[in-house]
Amino acid sequence: MSLPAAPRINPSILSADFVNMERDLGRIAGADLVHVDVMDNHFVPNLTFGPQMVRRIQDTSPLPLDVHLMIADPDRWAPEYAEIGAASVTFHLEAAADPVALARRLRDIGARAGVAIKPGTAVDPILEHLDAFDQVLVMTVEPGFGGQSFMPETMPKLRALADEARRRDARVWLQVDGGISMDTIGQAAEAGADTFVAGSAVFGAADIDARITQLRDLARQHRHGTDSLEE
Ligand code: DX5
Ligand code: ZN
Repeated sequence: MSLPAAPRINPSILSADFVNMERDLGRIAGADLVHVDVMDNHFVPNLTFGPQMVRRIQDTSPLPLDVHLMIADPDRWAPEYAEIGAASVTFHLEAAADPVALARRLRDIGARAGVAIKPGTAVDPILEHLDAFDQVLVMTVEPGFGGQSFMPETMPKLRALADEARRRDARVWLQVDGGISMDTIGQAAEAGADTFVAGSAVFGAADIDARITQLRDLARQHRHGTDSLEE
């Protein structure tokens, strides 16, 4: 499956209207992947939906699925989301018993394997095993809810990931999620992110298509390793 090139804007349907999901999936057709937040009320204090809903989103969405599992025991549950056909399945490092083995299973099924870390979780265990993952998600808010403020103190983890990826010549995607807006996307891009989740910034815009384009343009102008002032 060929997936969009960086910078990627992945709208989070946590900010969509859950009873008009098909309409809202159509509204973000100009984006790159659709970010699907699965929450179980255990790993995070909020509840969204499970495999039955994700299967319908997979059937309905014009875009490939970027599933973010905020659930306990992903070793048990994550493979089902890869079986549904999600392009990418990301589980939390804090919740996984054997992250490297789980990533291998997800890849074997045909999904990109992602690992996520909360703002307070160190990135070092991932740096050691970077080749095991296709995406690393650095949470820029505490997971659980949309509409929170971006935490700039998470940016050194992205720089460490970008450095290690360059050192290994790894093709891993570096994703940020939480508080990404016109005001914050530039600093995340400069730190090394190439894949940007945005919920309220996209669905709260009067012109969703224009907002997606503006976010992508800003990310491109500020991309890591370039002098953003030149563009
Ligand atoms: C939060 C979710 C995010 C959320 C982001 O736990 O993982 O994907 O929808 O929402 P905004 O962009 O509004 O911070
Ligand atoms: Zn998310």
